Amino acid sequence: MEKTLVIVKPDGVKRGLIGEVISRYERKGLKIVECKMIEADRDTLEKHYIEHREKPFYEELVSYMMNGSIMVMIVEGNNAIKLVRNINGKTNPLDAEPGTIRGDFANTMTENIVHASDSEESAEREISIWF
Ligand code: CMP
Repeated sequence: MEKTLVIVKPDGVKRGLIGEVISRYERKGLKIVECKMIEADRDTLEKHYIEHREKPFYEELVSYMMNGSIMVMIVEGNNAIKLVRNINGKTNPLDAEPGTIRGDFANTMTENIVHASDSEESAEREISIWF
């Protein structure tokens, strides 16, 4: 069993897509084992996005993640990390396939509805930051 960290970002919450996102994971046989609705603070986001701190989009990303409530959850199941990333689709909505969350609902690179851990190490690190 694997655990992965998922965030429904402010655009996903504002657009009423929390249920849509969760139901896609559940239909695939994954379980939501922890879940909370919060307003993220800068310190936590800086820890979460530490690998991007030198990137040109960093400031825009952190500001946007503070621009409304987010839903943070732990999703569990066999191969949860890879399955959740497949369900989410590619980061750039222009490359995300129809049938994925980003392919169906996202329009821009920053406002791409969901975040999910990209490896076992990231999942462990990100879960410890948010829970
Ligand atoms: P996420 O999975 O949360 O991880 C980093 C986020 O940075 C990514 O989703 C996007 O929302 C955002 N982002 C904005 N611009 C870029 C970019 N050029 N490359 C990668 N991620 C970007």
